[in-house]
Amino acid sequence: MNPSGGVIYLDNAATSWPKPPCVMEAMARFTSEIGANPGRSGHRLSVEAGRIVYRTREAVAEFFNAPDPLRVVFGHNATEAINLALKGTLRPGDRVITSSMEHNSTMRPLRALERQGIEVTVVRCSPEGYLSPADVEAAIRRDTVMVALNHASNVVGSLLPVPEVGAIARKHDLLFLVDAAQTGGAYPIDVQGDAIDLLAFTGHKLLYGPTGTGGLIIGDRVDAARLEPIIYGGTGSRSEREQQPDFLPDMCESGTPNVVGLAGLEAAIRWIRERGVEHIRSHEMFLTGQMLRGLKALSPVTVYGGLDLSRQTATISFNITGMQASQAAARLDEEFDIMCRPGLHCTPASHRTIGTFPEGSVRFSFGAFNTAEEVDAVLLAVGKLAQEVR
Ligand SMILES: Cc1ncc(COP(=O)(O)O)c(C=O)c1O
Repeated sequence: MNPSGGVIYLDNAATSWPKPPCVMEAMARFTSEIGANPGRSGHRLSVEAGRIVYRTREAVAEFFNAPDPLRVVFGHNATEAINLALKGTLRPGDRVITSSMEHNSTMRPLRALERQGIEVTVVRCSPEGYLSPADVEAAIRRDTVMVALNHASNVVGSLLPVPEVGAIARKHDLLFLVDAAQTGGAYPIDVQGDAIDLLAFTGHKLLYGPTGTGGLIIGDRVDAARLEPIIYGGTGSRSEREQQPDFLPDMCESGTPNVVGLAGLEAAIRWIRERGVEHIRSHEMFLTGQMLRGLKALSPVTVYGGLDLSRQTATISFNITGMQASQAAARLDEEFDIMCRPGLHCTPASHRTIGTFPEGSVRFSFGAFNTAEEVDAVLLAVGKLAQEVR
């Protein structure tokens, strides 16, 4: 039986599944043996819970080469982290440059901020989903303060040029926010080396942690004193004051954290490190190549994106001409036990860029547990659907 319990799970870009057994074990251990609220009480269970949170902070900092574990702020997901990065740093009159391959987790807060006097410039990507760093530089104006970029498309997997844009942002003294929802864990990311000031990551996708985990890494160039939290409340620190603490990470982590999730995330990161990001990536890219070759040979099937394995993640989008994406995905589920995601994938901007708006596409996204046999079975299934409409 395959590790996904009989189904073929190709929806890892939404959330990875299955999770490594050590993730479940760490969460069960925390729940049954520790369970306490970290940083709130002095008893030993609370101290142990605090240790788990700190160890996870250290693991994340080391994994992404953050300047300091205390500059890792935990939240529930990448969306919360992106909201904190944008709303916490931008002020009326500021201009932000972003790309046309952004997820709504970036586009929606930016559109909301526009109503508060923040200007947004969207740099158009190519129909394959690639972004030219020169186009980003050309869009910089005197009032530009930030470049906010998705590291990889969640529709066609195209990698956006983070190191190049990071260098440009640094040259012009702009803040550089990277949405690593689709790359964190699957692709090497070096916050300090790539001149990233704000890295939004999610724990539940390719870091293989549980849902409800994620966060923001805040680089040295972001002045904590100028950062505005998006949620205020108890932190377990400076409890004599009614004002929010003014130091990281506490100022941005009000309320009880998801300790059980963080226990799982720490185990997940250890699991990735033991295997190696490059090792997991080469397995996933092998499967991606196999799937791309197979899909391209099918008719009438259109595969989107640049189809260049060196410039993408393990995410593929396609359509069967004459069959709606939602219908294809439903039939893959019901008739072939294949789990995938159709539609617009929370990113109308990307679908406009690649020419699939408003119909959307069928998306396959691989994870570490998928196999070559699964790819063969999926290609047979898509082939059968394609044959029907030929
Ligand atoms: C590119 C991108 N950014 C952000 C997000 C949001 O991630 P989360 O669900 O962890 O908030 C996603 C989720 O699909 C994504 O693909």
